[in-house]
Amino acid sequence: MRLIVAMTGATGAVYGIRLLKALQHLGVERHLILSRWAEVTIVKETGLSVSEVCAMASVVHAPDNQGATISSGSFRHDGMVIAPCSMKTLAGLRSGYADGLIVRAADVSLKERRRLVLLARETPLNEIHLENMLALSRMGAIVAPPVPAFYNHPQSIEELVDHTVGRVLDLFGLEMPQLKRWAGMRPDKDVAGRPHVGVRRNG
Ligand SMILES: Cc1cc2nc3c(=O)[nH]c(=O)nc-3n(C[C@H](O)[C@H](O)[C@H](O)COP(=O)(O)O)c2cc1C
Repeated sequence: MRLIVAMTGATGAVYGIRLLKALQHLGVERHLILSRWAEVTIVKETGLSVSEVCAMASVVHAPDNQGATISSGSFRHDGMVIAPCSMKTLAGLRSGYADGLIVRAADVSLKERRRLVLLARETPLNEIHLENMLALSRMGAIVAPPVPAFYNHPQSIEELVDHTVGRVLDLFGLEMPQLKRWAGMRPDKDVAGRPHVGVRRNG
């Protein structure tokens, strides 16, 4: 299996890094593109150097190399993830303005009907952000903002991040062994595991 991972300058560089590590563990070929601002967030947020992150990839492509293999639809791959995806990159992709390799490779993934997952990150969201996400979803991209889950009782930031990454892997049919899935609630017990006594009235 071969995937493209792009990291842009939204906060949350850790998502791209954990994704690269998980894919490496699973033996997936990883083509990495870092935007200039991703390089800044990597250093500011993670304590890792850019070269340490690049070392997690099978192939690293320069963000302005429009002649890279992944710039062409003839280069076969199994999908692309932008983690995290800034609102600027989202806007470029929505409008088809592929002035760098990240948007070009994503644009190609869309036209070739390959899986494209966007960990779009901003808050709060304005109308432009929301419209761009809706439009891209309608075009076939999967908009998967990195929003943490709490039903699995995460004990660390790493566990919070891994849950999101595990759900991204799910979208490619890949399994993260440590992913704690929702196991369902028994209809005869309440959320704390006590026997159900119907509606509780206080006061
Ligand atoms: C520390 C830091 C955090 C940022 N967080 C976000 C964010 O969460 N979402 C976003 O859309 N832009 C964020 N930005 C702004 C983007 O980096 C900026 O719009 C940049 O031009 C994006 O370019 P790129 O998509 O090519 O990486 C952040 C910038 C910095 C320096």
